[in-house]
Amino acid sequence: MKEIILKTFTEKFGSPGTAIFAPGRANIIGEHTDYNEGFVLPFAIGQGVWFYAKSNEKSHFTILAYDTNEEAVLTQDNSALKYGWEKYFRQVLTALSGYNITGADIVFGGDLSIGAGISSSSAITCGFVALLNQLNDLHLNADELVNKSVEAERGYGVRGGIMDQYSIFNGKKDKAILIDCRTNSHQYVDIEMGEHQFYLINTNVKHNLIHTDYNNRRAECEQAVSLLNQNYREINALRDLTISDLPKIRMMLDDLLFNRVSFVVQENRRVMQTIQALTDKNYAAVGELLYASHDGLAQMYQVSCEELDWLVNYTFDDEQFLGARMMGGGFGGCTINLTTGILDHNTVSDREKKYKDRFGIKPDIIRVHCENGILNKV
Ligand code: GLA
Repeated sequence: MKEIILKTFTEKFGSPGTAIFAPGRANIIGEHTDYNEGFVLPFAIGQGVWFYAKSNEKSHFTILAYDTNEEAVLTQDNSALKYGWEKYFRQVLTALSGYNITGADIVFGGDLSIGAGISSSSAITCGFVALLNQLNDLHLNADELVNKSVEAERGYGVRGGIMDQYSIFNGKKDKAILIDCRTNSHQYVDIEMGEHQFYLINTNVKHNLIHTDYNNRRAECEQAVSLLNQNYREINALRDLTISDLPKIRMMLDDLLFNRVSFVVQENRRVMQTIQALTDKNYAAVGELLYASHDGLAQMYQVSCEELDWLVNYTFDDEQFLGARMMGGGFGGCTINLTTGILDHNTVSDREKKYKDRFGIKPDIIRVHCENGILNKV
């Protein structure tokens, strides 16, 4: 993939000045906790987006999307955009408008499924921020790179957290990243899997609810915090609650808000329990935590959908699967699955067939590993 994108660049623009690989991300556990100042445990994956680029000394960007063979000329003003993907570049230019940036010729493309909840849009955004940083000697540090990417993505209307951008920049081979989304700091967690594997299974559906309902969940959490804060001044985010606080706040919230809050509090605890289980190499316990996370996301937080539930339920009676849950924002996208080893051909084709019989589309089954992010590339 990388070679063909480089060849395309060279044939069109000559030799590139800069190359960036921006990976996608998977998340072991800690869903919808980032914007509640909680904990997440993602990792950067081997699949991602490659960019080759060279400064053109002009004020516009000529950008070729290799995957769709679409070419756009992007200026820094607000001219109309022709293709859906151009908005990611435009938002980055807006976020970096205070910097002195010259135009460039760019070819980008990759092997990251679009809309699968593995951060294809964040990979484009982070990759372009990193590219501009290099081409223009902006000297942005790691935090600034993450923050500028987050700022650019919020321009699309989703009030996302920092997990995706943080892991795309800071991912490290054979490590997951425990991110504390209050202090925006991280610790690496060794992932020594033995024969065990992580698989993503892409439902290949994306329900339209994603943008509105994601923002609604975030608003519900904020509403709960503001209600709780009236009696408990020390509660400034759902991160400030622990399991033992739940009974005492029960009467202050209606059923819906209490469910949302309980899920976030439990999910934060599950992140820590998962790290302990991984350290103990207790993969059965990790699997149980994934199932518990899915259950909460589906029942209490209500961000799952029929296809995701089906994929998770379908693992129950297969001993090769230790656990599974929906991953990312929800309403479609992928499940993450922990298996005892590499899945054999029969298991994969049986699963594909049964899902297709049920929903009329083929799912994608992708094995993933912890890989380096943009800043850890050697
Ligand atoms: C999306 C957002 C992340 C995070 C997840 C849910 O991927 O971009 O910031 O909130 O949903 O955990």
